[in-house]
Amino acid sequence: MVPNKLKILLPLWAVVMAITAVKATADYVRPPARKTLHFPWDPKPSSHPQQVHISLAGENHMRVTWITSDASSPSLVEYGTSPGQYTSKGHGDTTSYSYILYSSGTIHHTVIGPLEHNTVYYYRCGGQGPELHFKTPPAQFPVTFAVAGDLGQTGWTKSTLDHIDLCEYDVHLLPGDLSYADYIQRRWDTFGELVQPLASARPWMVTQGNHEKENIPFFIDGFESYNARWKMPYEESGSSSNLFYSFEVAGAHVVMLGSYTYYDENSDQYNWLKADLSTVDRKKTPWLLALFHVPWYNSNHAHQGEGDEMMQVMEPLLYAAGVDIVFAGHVHAYERSKRVYNGKSDPCGPVHITIGDGGNKEGLANRYKDPSPEWSVFREASFGHGELKIVNSTHAFWSWHRNDDDESVRSDEAWITSFTTTGCVAKEQKEGR
Ligand SMILES: [Fe+2]
Repeated sequence: MVPNKLKILLPLWAVVMAITAVKATADYVRPPARKTLHFPWDPKPSSHPQQVHISLAGENHMRVTWITSDASSPSLVEYGTSPGQYTSKGHGDTTSYSYILYSSGTIHHTVIGPLEHNTVYYYRCGGQGPELHFKTPPAQFPVTFAVAGDLGQTGWTKSTLDHIDLCEYDVHLLPGDLSYADYIQRRWDTFGELVQPLASARPWMVTQGNHEKENIPFFIDGFESYNARWKMPYEESGSSSNLFYSFEVAGAHVVMLGSYTYYDENSDQYNWLKADLSTVDRKKTPWLLALFHVPWYNSNHAHQGEGDEMMQVMEPLLYAAGVDIVFAGHVHAYERSKRVYNGKSDPCGPVHITIGDGGNKEGLANRYKDPSPEWSVFREASFGHGELKIVNSTHAFWSWHRNDDDESVRSDEAWITSFTTTGCVAKEQKEGR
């Protein structure tokens, strides 16, 4: 029996919630999203390695991550350059976490190497399981990055991943919002299974988005699941947190920042970034890239202004260091800017690319500011992915590929020249920056 008072209050509450929801989404109208994929129950032996993915872990090393149900399964990776012939091995360590009623499997992290560049390695995890293989990135240009953020695990995600799989690339860059688990921990597991075919074959370098933040005040730290499952080379890059780090690959220094951890001038992240940028040697790494989740240059109505605070604090650092390209996600659409700084075109600033269009369950953000700002070159609300081919120390080719009825269609492209060619280095030195 529902008490009379409750009978009156419930509809009222429903109306208030509906108005709130309309208000929150009134800024833009999203076309239908595709449904979350169905993952049939597929029990595996308890020691079977699941959700395998790899990430760069310092010079010539790779971190292999996988999960087993069995806690006693060894954190062993056997590997070699011929199928079935494992001439080397590496041992790692494990972690696990609990989240309310959920207990994760045993999460294994094993760093292997030194590895040869541009070489296919065959490997298996835990002394058993299927043989997998990955290719290490090249030592020199050309090097190609696949870029897609806000992935999720929907029909659109599958479409995007299929297109990335067809591309010849060396490293995947993901500017936040991975699984859209949103507190339901089992979804982290299904996401791990969904991406394994790609993420076990090429390093996936990720940073956090708002959907990784699953905190319960006083009980659970916001990034516990993300940090346990997607360990990145923060220790290798002198960072105190998995939420911000850097790595170098084939002439590119890549800085991965956290939009959802402290970034003020007294923060660990700010001080680490300053120190990290000061170590960049443009002769060794002529290209300097940065990734974070919330865009600073965004002419979409969605998430408008959310990155302003971080931009105010950190943009001068990136500008002074001569960052070439910034990738962000969060806004479920694609946008490319001119080189910009301080809100307007500037030949010495980075090109900003928003690429939060991987395929998430929330759909697209398709309402833009009109007229378009002078710094915005191309913008479109479609799912898709990007490819950045750094050809040499001065030139890179960027292309964005829309998922057009499941076909990958190259819809935007641009040659980008590196900061080192713009004459801004001389300007920088002249101004004493
Ligand atoms: Fe987001």
